[in-house]
Amino acid sequence: RPRVLSGIQPTAGSFHLGNYLGAVRQWVALQESHDAFYMVVDLHAITVPQDPEELRANTRFAAAQLLAAGLDPERCTLFVQSHVPEHAQLAWVMNCLTGFGEASRMTQFKDKSAKQGADRTTVGLFTYPILQVADILLYQANAVPVGEDQRQHIELTRDLAERFNTRYAPTFTVPEPYIVKETAKIYDLQDPTSKMSKSASSPKGLVNLLDEPKASAKKFKSAVTDTDTVIRYDAEQKPGVSNLLTIYSTLTGTSIPELEERYEGKGYGALKTDLAEIFVEWVTPFRTRTEEYLDDPETLDSVLAKGAEKARAVAAETLATVYDRIGFVPAK
Ligand code: TYM
Repeated sequence: RPRVLSGIQPTAGSFHLGNYLGAVRQWVALQESHDAFYMVVDLHAITVPQDPEELRANTRFAAAQLLAAGLDPERCTLFVQSHVPEHAQLAWVMNCLTGFGEASRMTQFKDKSAKQGADRTTVGLFTYPILQVADILLYQANAVPVGEDQRQHIELTRDLAERFNTRYAPTFTVPEPYIVKETAKIYDLQDPTSKMSKSASSPKGLVNLLDEPKASAKKFKSAVTDTDTVIRYDAEQKPGVSNLLTIYSTLTGTSIPELEERYEGKGYGALKTDLAEIFVEWVTPFRTRTEEYLDDPETLDSVLAKGAEKARAVAAETLATVYDRIGFVPAK
C-alpha cells in the first residue's frame, strides 16, 4: 500500500469548512486505499503564542473532530506530533540542509511575519516549513493530502529529499502533493476571492464546523454573490456562486452541471437556502460525534497513545538511517 501523511493545526474553536473540504475529507477517503498517517501538529502550533491549557484542550479537540469526521484508528494511524520526538530531531537535520534564502522565500512565512512584525515573529515560524518537511520525510510518504495553500511546503519537501538523497545516499521517498482540484481552495463567504481562513478580517465569511448550526446557516444565506442572476460555475466571473456550488456539490455528491440544471431559472436565494439546510444536516451528526469523543477523554487519549506508538516505530527507523548517513557515532 502506498503511504500518505498529513497534519492539521490544533486551533481555538473548531476546524472550518475549508479544512474539512480541502483536506480532512480526503484523509478519510485515503485510509481505505493507503497506509495513512495523520497528526495534530502541536509543535507547529507553538510557532505563535499559545496558552498552555488552551493548547492542551485544542489538541484533544482536534483529535476528537478528526475521529468524528470519519478517521478510524483501525484503518489509519492518528497521533499527536509532540508524542514522536523524531519530528524535532529530523527537523534539526533538515534545518542544516536548507538555505537561508530558500527558507526566506516561503510565502506563508512572508505573509504571516509581515502581519505580525519582525519583533513578534519567532525563529520557529521561520523554520516552520522545515519542520513540515521532517514530518513528511520521516514516514517515507508517497503523497501528502492538503489544500492548495500547502503546495509550496510540499515543493520544499521534494527539494530537500532530493538534496539529501544526492548528497548522502538514496534515503527518502520524494512525495507528491495530493491536492483535489475542485476543493483545493474554499473561499470566504463574504470575500469569495480570499481563501476561507481563521485569520479573515470578519468572522461572517468563515464557517466553523462546531458553531451553532443556525449561525452557520445564516452565513450561507448572506453569502456574497454578484449582481447577475444566473446560477453557473465560473470561478473568474462569478467567484461567490462558484464557491457555493463547489461546497454544495462536495457535500451532496451531486455534480456541478447537475446543480446548474437543477437551479436553472431559480434565484440565488433558493441556492443559498438549500445549501444552508444541507450544511446543517451534514454538520449536526458531526457535532454530536465530536461531543461524544470529548466526553470520553480516556478513550481519546488511548487512541492517541496507540497512534504515537505506531508512528514512532516508523519514524525511529528513518531517523536512525539518517543519523548514520550523516556520520553520527552510534549511541550504544
Ligand atoms: P492547517 O492546519 O492550516 O490546515 C489544515 C489543512 O486544511 C487545508 N486548508 C484549506 N483547504 C482548502 N480551502 C481552504 N480555505 C483551506 N484552509 C486550510 C490546508 O491546506 C491543510 O491541508 N502546515 C499545515 C500543517 C502541517 C502539515 C504537515 C500538512 C504540518 N505538518 C505535514 C501536511 C504534511 C497547516 O498549517 O495546515
